[in-house]
Amino acid sequence: MKTFVIANWKMNPSTIQEAQTLFNSVKEGLKNIRGLDKKAETVICPPFPYLSILSNIQDPKSSIKLGAQNCFWEENGSFTGEISLLMLKNLECKYVIIGHSERRLFLNETDRMINKKLKKVLEKKLKPIFCIGEKKKDKEQGKAQAILKKQLENGLKKINKKEIKNIILAYEPVWAIGGGKSCSPDEAQVMRLFLKKVISQKYSRSVANEIKILYGGSVNNSNVKSFIKEAGFQGVLVGGSSLRPEEFVELIKEVSKI
Ligand code: PGA
Repeated sequence: MKTFVIANWKMNPSTIQEAQTLFNSVKEGLKNIRGLDKKAETVICPPFPYLSILSNIQDPKSSIKLGAQNCFWEENGSFTGEISLLMLKNLECKYVIIGHSERRLFLNETDRMINKKLKKVLEKKLKPIFCIGEKKKDKEQGKAQAILKKQLENGLKKINKKEIKNIILAYEPVWAIGGGKSCSPDEAQVMRLFLKKVISQKYSRSVANEIKILYGGSVNNSNVKSFIKEAGFQGVLVGGSSLRPEEFVELIKEVSKI
C-alpha cells in the first residue's frame, strides 16, 4: 500500500514566482528517488490562486498530484468568495482537504458544514482528506477521544459504507500543529486505534481495516518514519516542512525507504 504525503502550504508563499520555484524544486528533488511511484503518493495543496499555474507546470507523469485546501458544497451560483468542486476538477485537483482545524477555528467551520463538503467531494469523485483533532484544552480535560468521536460521527453523517472507503482521514491534534511539538508516536497510535474502533462500530470491521488514516502535526524528516512505522499511520499531512523544499524532499526520501 502506498504511503500518502500531503503538503498543506496553507496561506503560503506570497508570490506566484515563489510558488513555482517551490513546486519545481520538489518536482526536481523527487526525480532522483527511485521507485517512488510505487511507494508514495505525494499531494501538494497550494492556495487556490496558484492551482492553475501549477497544474500547467505539473508533469502528468510526475508522482506529484494536486489538491485543494478547501471547497464549497454548491456547484455554482451566488456564493461570493467560494470555490466549487467543478472548478477544482478542471484544474486537475484530485484531493481536497476538508475540516482543517484552522478553518474550524478562524472561520467557524462546523461539523455540519464539513459533512456537506465531504458529501459533495465524494459525489464529484475527488478524494477528501478529512481532518479531525482535539485541542490542548480537550486533551487536558481528558475529553480528546469524546471530541474525536463527535467530529467523526457528525462529519460522516449519511455517508455510507461504500463512500467512506474513499475518504482519507487525518488525525491532527491541534496542540501539535505548527509548534514544533509533535505528538509522540505511541500517543498517536492510541488515537489511530481509537478512530478505527469508532469506524468499526459505525460501519464494520472490514471498513475500519481498509480506511486510511494519516497523522498531521509538526511532521518533519526526522520524525516521519516513526508515525508510519511505529504508529502505523498510512501517511502524513505536512505543513511547515512542506514549505522548505530540501527538507520536504528528504522527508519523502525517508518515506520511500520504509
Ligand atoms: P504543521 O501543520 O506540519 O506545520 O504542524 C500541519 C497541518 O496543519 O496540516
